Amino acid sequence: MRKLLVTGGAGFIGANFVRHLLHSDPQISVVTLDRLTYAGTQTSLHGLPPQRHHFVHGDICDAELVSKLLHDHALDTIVHFAAESHVDRSIAAPGEFVRTNVVGTYTLLEAARTAWLAPARRGESARFHHVSTDEVYGSLAPDAPPFSEATAYDPRSPYSASKAASDHLASAYHHTYGLPLTISNCSNNYGPYQFPEKLIPLLIVNALHGRELPIYGDGGQIRDWLYVEDHCRGIERVLRDGRPGQTYNIGGGNQWRNLDLCRRLCRMIDETFAADARLRERFPAAAAAQGGRTCDTIRFVADRPGHDRRYAIDAAKIRRELDFGPAADFDSGIRKTLEWYLDNDWGWRPLLSADYRRWLAQNYTARVK
Ligand code: NAD
Ligand code: DAU
Repeated sequence: MRKLLVTGGAGFIGANFVRHLLHSDPQISVVTLDRLTYAGTQTSLHGLPPQRHHFVHGDICDAELVSKLLHDHALDTIVHFAAESHVDRSIAAPGEFVRTNVVGTYTLLEAARTAWLAPARRGESARFHHVSTDEVYGSLAPDAPPFSEATAYDPRSPYSASKAASDHLASAYHHTYGLPLTISNCSNNYGPYQFPEKLIPLLIVNALHGRELPIYGDGGQIRDWLYVEDHCRGIERVLRDGRPGQTYNIGGGNQWRNLDLCRRLCRMIDETFAADARLRERFPAAAAAQGGRTCDTIRFVADRPGHDRRYAIDAAKIRRELDFGPAADFDSGIRKTLEWYLDNDWGWRPLLSADYRRWLAQNYTARVK
């Protein structure tokens, strides 16, 4: 693993991964390929060393471009993050999810097969790592054991169905053609650079602007939260020592009901504002800046159609085989995340585009009707 292609590296996890890897290993160079959809911004990649990082604005569905990059940069590793990743958007408009998540993954696999499995190249080490999600396993009953790598796939949203399809294609390329490939299925991530349409950054950004905090349904859904830096470390472990053909589940062992998580975050925002007059000046519309309680701005809204009730990951395999476990506990992770959003408006304000505002307004209005 010396020369990597990272797809979707201008998005949330991809950007954290590129930063993590360039920081942790001076031998590595990275080409980031990103289409810069509404969810991606080069701002997330600012300050990286230009001699070791090269950004390409392009589409993973562009077979010619992908093949040219593999060839011209002599890339030996692909870490594939690029995806349409938001469940609500997949319910509203599934077509783009099939295009990017299924056809895009196929395009990358085919380019890797052609570049790396040609007779002249056989024997050289290469690796394709496909980044996937725990949502492919479906929804857990309250007392069911967490998802393991042996859990049967049962995707229930257009997003998770498209990711499941991409996992099956990836697996098939290993079994049929011998492409050296690993897959990881991870639980919900949180941390810096996340687009503020996902629960945690949406709650933070809304709270800072004094907007209501929408909780879908009864707020009793459960997610297993992992700090993004830990996900990046987990992927690095799989890249370095994971066995080709294997899937590794990565999770936080950290299950929270949405409503409890939201209340925890609200309390943290109130305490932080109470201790810092400058925050009250910078975000005057926030309830916490006006002597109110952020919790009082929670609003229960219509549920997500087909909403999965509970996700939880059994991460025993990656712990046993690769000696990997998360380092951040939830309290410190969520505090670092809040601090990042408070200190780095430049990182998320540019994302609040007209498209974002339109989406937020439509999604919210549809739910409060
Ligand atoms: P994100 O939406 O923040 O970023 C996706 C990135 O992919 C963006 O930069 C976007 O511009 C880019 N992209 C989209 N379509 C593209 C295309 N056709 N060609 C090139 N680039 C394109 O997503 P994320 O939350 O960082 O998720 C990254 C990956 O991790 C996804 O595959 C997702 O399924 C998986 N995952 C996410 C989570 C999570 O909690 N966010 C958890 C488990 C797995
Ligand atoms: O589990 C991994 C998955 O986690 C990833 O594969 C996805 O890419 C990622 O988006 C995430 O999916 P979720 O649907 O779990 O994340 P989201 O942040 O959209 O929602 C988290 C929970 O919070 C979910 O139960 C829906 C709920 N929710 C979400 C939003 C945006 C609300 O109650 N209110 C909201 O406004």
